[in-house]
Formats: sequence, C-alpha cells, structure tokens
Amino acid sequence: MGEIRIEGLEKSFRSTQVLHSLDLLIEAGEFVTLLGPSGCGKTTTLRCVAGLETPTSGRITIGTVPVSDSANESFVPPHRRRVGMVFQSYAIWPHMSVRSNVEFPLRRRKQGTREERRATAQRALSAVGMAEYAERYPHELSGGQQQRVALARGLVSAGEVMLYDEPLSNLDAKLRIAMRDEVRRLHEEFGHTSIYVTHDQEEAFAISDRVIIMKGGRIEQVGTPREIFDTPVSRYVADFVGYENILDIDRVSSDGSEAFAGGLRFAGLHDVRIGDALAFRSSRVIPGEGGRTAAMSCETTRTREVYIGDETVVHLATPDGAEIVARVPSGSGEVEIASGVFHVSREDIAVLRPEED
Ligand SMILES: Nc1ncnc2c1ncn2[C@@H]1O[C@H](COP(=O)(O)OP(=O)(O)O)[C@@H](O)[C@H]1O
Ligand SMILES: [Mg+2]
Repeated sequence: MGEIRIEGLEKSFRSTQVLHSLDLLIEAGEFVTLLGPSGCGKTTTLRCVAGLETPTSGRITIGTVPVSDSANESFVPPHRRRVGMVFQSYAIWPHMSVRSNVEFPLRRRKQGTREERRATAQRALSAVGMAEYAERYPHELSGGQQQRVALARGLVSAGEVMLYDEPLSNLDAKLRIAMRDEVRRLHEEFGHTSIYVTHDQEEAFAISDRVIIMKGGRIEQVGTPREIFDTPVSRYVADFVGYENILDIDRVSSDGSEAFAGGLRFAGLHDVRIGDALAFRSSRVIPGEGGRTAAMSCETTRTREVYIGDETVVHLATPDGAEIVARVPSGSGEVEIASGVFHVSREDIAVLRPEED
C-alpha cells in the first residue's frame, strides 16, 4: 500500500547542506504535516518525495517501490511516481480550460482513452465542487476556485500519495479554514497517504494525524497535534507552538522533583535536571492558590494588561523579578486577580530538554 519511507535523506545545494539525514515512516492512509519556519527544509523534503529534486543521499520508498536510492543511483521521474502535488501558486495553465488543466497529467501519461480521461477529470472536478466550471478559463475564476482546480488536478495525478506545499497560503483567512476542512475530507474520501507543508501551527494541528516539527533541515519532534501541543520537547518547539512562559532551571532538588526557575519554586516534577527549562502557557496561569495540584503558586504584581477581546493578557512580576504572562477571561475573576496570587498545575508544565546546538 501507499506508505512512504524516507531513510537517511540528505540534500545539498552546491556546498550547502539543507537536509540532514532525515528518517521518517508515513503509514498508508496517514495525513502528516511538516511544520516549521521558513527555510527549515519543508519544501525540499516534499520535492524529494515528488521527484522534483534528486537527493544527495538516502532512500525514498513509496509503497513497495524505491523511487530514489543513492546507493544504486536509481531515480523514478516525477510523472512516473503517481503522486499528486498542489502548490501555493496554483500552477495551473492560463491558456487551458479548467477541464484541460485537470486532464493534463493523464494526457501526459497517455493514460486511458479520451473518454476515460474526461470522466476521471469530471469526477475530480465534482469532488472539489467545480463540476460546472469545466469549460471556463483560469482568469474567469476566483483565487479559491483556481486552488480547487489545482486540487482536482492533484487528485487525478495521485495514485495513493498526495503532497501539498502551503496550498492555502494565498487565500483569505475564512476561505483558508473552509479549504483545509475540504483537503482533509478529500484525503479521507480518496484514502490517500498525504504529506502537507505549512508554517501555520493552527492549520497543521487542524488537518493532521501527526505533525513533524522541522528545524534547520532536521526533525525536531514528531507527534500527534495533542502531543506536540502538550509536551513540546525543546525550547524551539515550545516557542513555535506558542508557550509564552519558558523559564531556565537554576537549581534542582537531589531527587529531581523540585526546581527553582526564574526565582520561583516548582514542586511535584519528575526527574528534572539543571539545563532543562520549564514551560507553561499563559492560559494555564490561573488566579488563586491551586491547592494540591499546584506545581507553583506565587504572589505577583501586575505590570501590564492587554485587552484582546474575550481574554485579557496580564503581565505579572514575581518577587524575584521574573515576569510571567497570564491570560484570563475578560471581565471575570477580577477579585481573584486583584489578590495577585497565581498558580500553575503540574500537568500544565512541560519539561524542555537542552538545545543541542
Ligand atoms: N534550488 C535551490 N538552490 C539553493 N538553495 C536552495 C534551493 N532550494 C532551497 N534552497 C535552500 O534550502 C533551504 C531550505 O529551503 P526550503 O526547503 O524551501 O525551506 P522551507 O520550505 O521550509 O521554507 C533554504 O535555506 C533555501 O534557501
Ligand atoms: Mg517552502
């Protein structure tokens, strides 16, 4: 079936190495997203799977077929990989009708008769809600409709694998949300194995079975959206997925259950060490003492408040001069907040391991 196996993938452009020994197994029918900031190697990884780049070394297998293997210099060209690809730039031909654009990959592969190609294209256009637009030209369509055509063309190219490179980045916010649900629905309807690339955390979480966080051409963390959200392994990941409070540990108890960080005492931890950091979200800094579940509870003074609608972001100074950020519902809990005592529960604290570089 259509699993994708990436082993020891490396890619250099001239003397610059941009992918460093990537290993990744994507199961048949899985939807994974490569997530990370611009320049971390997401597109290059995807293009290696598509066959648009030749890896410097390593092996990529789709299903049972090794599509590139540096050991024996084998390389299957893109149009023989049966992979559908959708780009941010749509990349549909302006001089071809919608139907012609969607039939193009089939014509190129000389797949089926004319009637069969037409029927396949029509099915794909129906799947993306564009059946009535087959005779139109791209300039007669909105951006969202053009992206649907690009999706339909990807679907007809795909055997079992779909690749998406920031396909929704050019759409406005509302359409982006509707389209990401659509991409996920099509993934399930067609039973593809999908790799999706984005730098948008919310989009990645909403659409994926698993998220691969990339950093500088390496994989930093792999996990379900919930695992990444709740247990980031490093400062880089915590920062990227929006942990506002990250404190370096200065001192730990001999059994590793207590730590001082930012002048605050945290208890009930497990096996923490000097060099680790503790991270927690502003939404998990709660007014009041917190009782037995509290890892940390302290008195603070408010230094700044930013009203952002339903919530208010409150900056708090601790007696030892650390600043932590809390996020509280606007207009509620005023009394508790006024007391200045805040706590964080044990389960809301992520222990981050030291950065390696
Ligand atoms: N054709 C190329 N020639 C030289 N350098 C490239 C080329 N394509 C990508 N790079 C470099 O490789 C790195 C990773 O790029 P890319 O995979 O596009 O990152 P991302 O998609 O995560 O933004 C970047 O530093 C980029 O400048
Ligand atoms: Mg890119």
